[in-house]
Amino acid sequence: MPTPLAIQDLIGNATEFPILNRWQFFNHAGVCPLPRCAGDALRTFATQFENDAYLDSGFYRQIDALRTSAARMINAAPAEIAFVKNTSEGVATVAGGIDWRAGDRIVTTAVEYPANMYPWMDIAKRFNVELVIVPEETDSTGARAVPLQAILKACDDPRTRLLALSHVEYASGQRHDLLTIGAYTRPRGILLAIDAIQSMGVLPIDVQAMNIDFLSADGHKWLLGPEGAGIFYCRQELLASTRPLIVGWMNVINDQAYGDYDFTLKPDARRFECGTHNVPGLLALKASLELLLSIGTQSVSARLRELTDQLVGRLIEKRYDIISPRDEASWSGIVSFASPLRQTSEQHDHQAIFRMLRTDHQTEIAVREGRLRVSAHFYNTEGQIDQLIERLPDH
Ligand SMILES: Cc1ncc(COP(=O)(O)O)c(C=O)c1O
Repeated sequence: MPTPLAIQDLIGNATEFPILNRWQFFNHAGVCPLPRCAGDALRTFATQFENDAYLDSGFYRQIDALRTSAARMINAAPAEIAFVKNTSEGVATVAGGIDWRAGDRIVTTAVEYPANMYPWMDIAKRFNVELVIVPEETDSTGARAVPLQAILKACDDPRTRLLALSHVEYASGQRHDLLTIGAYTRPRGILLAIDAIQSMGVLPIDVQAMNIDFLSADGHKWLLGPEGAGIFYCRQELLASTRPLIVGWMNVINDQAYGDYDFTLKPDARRFECGTHNVPGLLALKASLELLLSIGTQSVSARLRELTDQLVGRLIEKRYDIISPRDEASWSGIVSFASPLRQTSEQHDHQAIFRMLRTDHQTEIAVREGRLRVSAHFYNTEGQIDQLIERLPDH
């Protein structure tokens, strides 16, 4: 188990987070920078492979250790974790792994990232499955969210096979209440498939308490890993009935028996891994994920709440409209907001603000679905948030 790290020692620490030397970086909901420990893992890998190839490296044992750490982060068993190349592969593994019947229903929302929409559209078309899409609404605070009750109501049909949901929606930052949702879906036999790329590592996830059946998350956002190395969880009881998306040499029990063919799939989640791993990617992900794990998701989450509260408070002072829900159940690390003058003033146009911050101030945010989106991580400082606010146009 990694030694617990004090979060205070890492905040604003440019040795551990070199990005702090050059950028005010607030796009962790897009693609994250690597912390030094992940860079070190890649450098060590490169040196080792230049000099000794895979011999005596211990890399494969480290990948097994990552399986254990990833499982611990979401309260799963290591046997329920597979490595995937991205979130899309995890979602598609679920979509392609179920024996769909004509007339089945899949429920999702109208604001999913396309990685969590096209696989279901594909299934709907191929198997005559109904895809039910729940829209986003404006709530009483002016925030945009898909109401919990609307999701549950959409599921309320005996033909519903699966609910596909992002834990945190990429454009609004809404966090869904998975404890309540999972308590509804499990007794009704509805599979709960979660895209967790916008939450894993920084918001608590407990696949058992939340009754999650499948979960997918690439490492390149809040987990602070490189692109192309991700985590897929499949609940133990569903392993045998979920068909692997791609079959290759590694899915089977005797994967080192080579020519002695025996097409018996592994009993654990490694049955979803078809061939050689992205070793450097997973080693870097291990370093980042274990850094977060050693701080503790609760501490990271509390820090994100502080930073996002500060940001939202200052944005309101500056008369921006807050789009992200901020109540206790729905807040996340994503803060989306809009200028009331975005359509009438060139200076307030969102793309213009985005470009001005990047070009004039080495400050990175994002524009998604017409909204400005800031996603700070725990190591960003209050001072950086203040600077960002100063640079935004007044109203
Ligand atoms: C909710 C969500 N899912 C998935 C992805 C990315 O998918 P992948 O890991 O397949 O690139 C993103 C990226 O923005 C996202 O916001």
